[in-house]
Amino acid sequence: MAPLNTVAVIGAGIMGRGIAHGAALAGYRTILEDLLPATLRKAESEIRANLDKAVELGKVSAPDANAAFSRIEFAGSIEEAARDADLVIEAVPEEMESKIEIFTLLDKICRPTTILASNTSSLSVTEIASVTYRAKKCLGMHFFNPAHKMKLLEIVRALETDDDTLASAVEVGKRMGKEVIVIKESPGFITSRINAMIGNEAFYMLQEGIASAADIDKALKLGLNHPMGPFELVDLVGLDTRLNILEYLHKTLGEKYRPAPLLVQYVKAGRLGQKSGRGVYEYPQAKHGQETA
Ligand SMILES: NC(=O)c1ccc[n+]([C@@H]2O[C@H](COP(=O)([O-])OP(=O)(O)OC[C@H]3O[C@@H](n4cnc5c(N)ncnc54)[C@H](O)[C@@H]3O)[C@@H](O)[C@H]2O)c1
Repeated sequence: MAPLNTVAVIGAGIMGRGIAHGAALAGYRTILEDLLPATLRKAESEIRANLDKAVELGKVSAPDANAAFSRIEFAGSIEEAARDADLVIEAVPEEMESKIEIFTLLDKICRPTTILASNTSSLSVTEIASVTYRAKKCLGMHFFNPAHKMKLLEIVRALETDDDTLASAVEVGKRMGKEVIVIKESPGFITSRINAMIGNEAFYMLQEGIASAADIDKALKLGLNHPMGPFELVDLVGLDTRLNILEYLHKTLGEKYRPAPLLVQYVKAGRLGQKSGRGVYEYPQAKHGQETA
């Protein structure tokens, strides 16, 4: 297993920026890229602010935070980001067409030895990998939000993933301080399948007028000991991302995953969560900055 030195992250949205932060802190030369220059700039300032916060809280020393930040390069194109990478982690929106477009391009740009990972929450990595000539070097690396803090990394072994690729990805996850689990590919893996189900049920309850969003959140936090309520969580994840996941689970696993009509309506209204300033709840200061292209 050859050591990996350079990690490229494609897509600097909610997840990409956190993955880049974690990779840089683990000592990897890290290159972050996004289609939208404004999103990349926003990602740069958010990573800096999050590293400063970690120093303030005594979780990282100031020299380590500065060294991590200096390890991150912000690339203007996917070619620039991926050509020298040993591992590329794709974190573009949860749509099969986008993933396929990126993997087709990466397969042409990257060295034959480069590992291609998708941070997809639900989609078939086997299908994504099938557009490349290196399916055995493709796998899923499913990080959680916020990616620089959350402990779990769910690694998804696709049909053709080989042992060496799997071992390299596990090693990267461990170096980033994650607890790693390896699972066989299945729609929604472990986490998204269960989480989408809980979140969808919460939307059905809200739609039926059983209780307010705040009380449904309170019930799960105080009665079931969930750290966040389902609506707080979906506002963090993005309602569009959750809807994409549910639509895929519905298509692949059946009727019980049909997205709640209220969720569909919120997405149509542009209520995408914290990133757009309004989801189930309102966020007067939009945090994400993707809407400013
Ligand atoms: N949001 C979550 O909580 C969460 C958790 C785990 C996994 N995921 C998965 O991570 C992936 C990304 O989700 P996100 O929430 O970060 O989405 P996001 O919408 O916040 O970010 C996606 C980014 O990709 C960029 N992008 C789109 N097309 C691109 C292209 N061709 N080249 C480069 N950049 C491009 C967009 O400009 C955007 O900044 C999805 O597959 C999602 O399912 C999300």
